Amino acid sequence: MTPARHVVLVGPMGAGKSRVGALLADRLGLPFVDADDALEAACGRSIAALFAGEGEAVFRDRESLVLRDLLLAPPAVIASGGGVVLRPDNRAVLRAHATVVHLQADVATQLQRLADCRQRPLLQAPDREQRLRQLAEQRDPLYAQVRDLAIQTGGRMPKQVCDALLAALGAPQ
Ligand code: S3P
Repeated sequence: MTPARHVVLVGPMGAGKSRVGALLADRLGLPFVDADDALEAACGRSIAALFAGEGEAVFRDRESLVLRDLLLAPPAVIASGGGVVLRPDNRAVLRAHATVVHLQADVATQLQRLADCRQRPLLQAPDREQRLRQLAEQRDPLYAQVRDLAIQTGGRMPKQVCDALLAALGAPQ
């Protein structure tokens, strides 16, 4: 099965969007694009540098532009950044142009998976757990607005998540 629409993975940092996305793309015979990588390539600097130099609002503007460009291209599996759902316009284009999969991860799982991560600007907080809880409180309702399906990733390897997704999408295993 090659879906006629994009498959966009949304969800919090550490949910496994990039790893699951790459596996899923391979199994669906679609290209895989990591939207954060596409953004960094487009603006020639890292997300951390962009946040530090120009602030989050400029990053969000770039993120919206990259999302639109990716959704205009032929169907792909797209791993989005965790905050892509913050802007109403992004939520509208996601709903219009993609099958949206919400990869869920509880905060304990996120903390474990992101323990060695020093790059993500939003994790530069004295209390990571509290930051992740705040983000989840703000964003979980927004993921729920855009998603076609949701899957828990805690305690599962990327391949298991991918297999479960293929089944949910009705793709041959
Ligand atoms: C962000 C998540 C990151 C990246 C940026 C902001 C967020 O992507 O887009 O650091 O707002 O949650 P991942 O979800 O791939 O870590």
